[in-house]
Amino acid sequence: MDAVSITDVHKSFPGHWGKGGVYAVKGVSLRIPEGGVYGLIGPNGSGKSTVMKLLVGLLAPDAGSCSVFGQPATAPANRREIGFLPENPYFYKFLTGEETVRFYGRLCGLRGAALKERTRELLELVGLTEAKDRRLRGYSKGMLQRIGLAQALVQKPRLLVLDEPTAGVDPIGSRTIRDIILNIKEQGVTVFLCSHLLEQVQEICDRVGVLYQGCLIAEGTMDELTRDDRHAEITLNNPTPELLEQMRQLAGDAWQDCRPARNSLETVFLRGIQAKLREKGMQNAESRSQNAE
Ligand SMILES: Nc1ncnc2c1ncn2[C@@H]1O[C@H](COP(=O)(O)OP(=O)(O)OP(=O)(O)O)[C@@H](O)[C@H]1O
Ligand SMILES: [Mg+2]
Repeated sequence: MDAVSITDVHKSFPGHWGKGGVYAVKGVSLRIPEGGVYGLIGPNGSGKSTVMKLLVGLLAPDAGSCSVFGQPATAPANRREIGFLPENPYFYKFLTGEETVRFYGRLCGLRGAALKERTRELLELVGLTEAKDRRLRGYSKGMLQRIGLAQALVQKPRLLVLDEPTAGVDPIGSRTIRDIILNIKEQGVTVFLCSHLLEQVQEICDRVGVLYQGCLIAEGTMDELTRDDRHAEITLNNPTPELLEQMRQLAGDAWQDCRPARNSLETVFLRGIQAKLREKGMQNAESRSQNAE
């Protein structure tokens, strides 16, 4: 059985007095097998959030159907199975991180020791244990996204729907969120997410759909979508100019290009920060040993 099955779904939003209506989703069909991670990408306004809201039952389609684990998306029994992180989650800013997770836990029927344990576990998972007693008013964007993720996971859903989980989060924070998603996937949870961070989508997702003006214009596994059989890349360790010249001659007309390999900007960013953290760690250790002397 598929975890998610969306079949020829259409959705439009009427305007005022017949003006300004929008045809947001035009016949989208997709399936996600149980345990899969599916990424939806597309420009602003292409209909990603609308598809997600249709799937979690917050919007009703004009035509077509959405089902989750074989049940219609709007079936109340499905509520327990789906965790949802909306695009702009709204939280009570006067609650602390811990109180917020507890609040959502109570809404999902948890009480007593089970609620306490689940709250502790989730704050740990999203890396907010130290900030748990601070009010959300003082949380940064990345911290709020992580609270949103904890909220979506509170009832141990079988399907997690994440609308831009890394929006506004710095590279280290988005790595943390990526690792959390991979961890959740390993536990067998199906994930449906959309994001503008294409590199992350490529790293996390098994399948990807490209949405454009409400239509899926490309769909497939990561390998199917990104494979380019007309070109090949060869990576050499410490190549000498002589070796490169030999290879160029051997390849003849097929030779196209040769340039140094490059690191991604993300790698440069993370390496720099990690080096600083190590430096700081060493300084702290030194000052501790000096104090001890
Ligand atoms: N409640 C609504 N009322 C009217 N129009 C809406 C509503 N929700 C979405 N739309 C319109 O539907 C289209 C698709 O919007 P949607 O939010 O699904 O796009 P998106 O792909 O999530 O964009 P983004 O990347 O900016 O989040 C847009 O033209 C949007 O203006
Ligand atoms: Mg959106």
